[in-house]
Amino acid sequence: MLDIALPKGRLGEKVYAMFEAAGFECPSIREENRKLIFENPELGIRFFWVKPSDVAIYVERGAADIGVAGKDILLEYEPDVFEMLDLNIGKCRMAVAAKKGFKDNTDTTLRVATKFSNIAERFYREKCRDIDIIHLNGSIEIAPILNLSDVIVDIVETGKTLYENNLEPIETIVPISARLIANKASYQFKWEIIDKIKEGLSKQVRD
Ligand code: PRP
Repeated sequence: MLDIALPKGRLGEKVYAMFEAAGFECPSIREENRKLIFENPELGIRFFWVKPSDVAIYVERGAADIGVAGKDILLEYEPDVFEMLDLNIGKCRMAVAAKKGFKDNTDTTLRVATKFSNIAERFYREKCRDIDIIHLNGSIEIAPILNLSDVIVDIVETGKTLYENNLEPIETIVPISARLIANKASYQFKWEIIDKIKEGLSKQVRD
C-alpha cells in the first residue's frame, strides 16, 4: 500500500482531482461522509485527509509515503523530505504588509507579526534588519491595526483580506504553490509507483 496524505479543504479537492485525472483514483472519496481514509486496493493506494499544515509531518515521519504540501510549510519547517514536483495550484505569495502609508524607521526594531516566524527571520536576517517576531496563529492582519506590530508576514492570495483591513502589501518574499513531497526512505523502496504518480501528475500540471 502506498499512503498518500492530502491537505483537507479546497486545495485538497483540486489535488485529488489531479490524482484522479492521472489514473490514481479512489471513487469512495467522492462519497459525502466524514471519513478521513480511503483505499483503492486494486491500485494499492490509500488516501487520507489531514490538516494542510500537518501533511509534511506525516510524510517526514513516514506515516505517509507521499503527500501534497504548500511551499510555505516546506520553507517554514524545512522537513526532511524529497520535494518531487510543483503542482502549480494553491498559488499565492508570502509577503510583508503594513498599514497604508507605513514608513519603516530603521533606527528602531521592526515588530513583525506572523505565523511564519522562520521565513520572516531568514528574510530580515538577509537584510540585516533588526526585528522582534510576534508569533501568532491566525488573523494576523489584526496585529498592525491594534499596534501589536508594525508589519505582518503572511500569505497573500487575492489581496482582499489586506485591502478590507486597510493594509497593503509592501514586499513579496517568495511565491508559493503546492508541492508533491515524498518520504526519503519510502522513495528508496517504492520509487517505481512514486515516480509513476509523479509522471502522471506532471501531465496534469497547468500553467
Ligand atoms: C490566509 C492568509 C490571509 C488570507 C489571504 O488565511 O493568512 O489571511 O488567507 O487571502 P487573500 O489575499 O485572498 O485575502 P487563511 O484563510 O489560510 O487563514 P488564517 O487566518 O488561519 O491564516
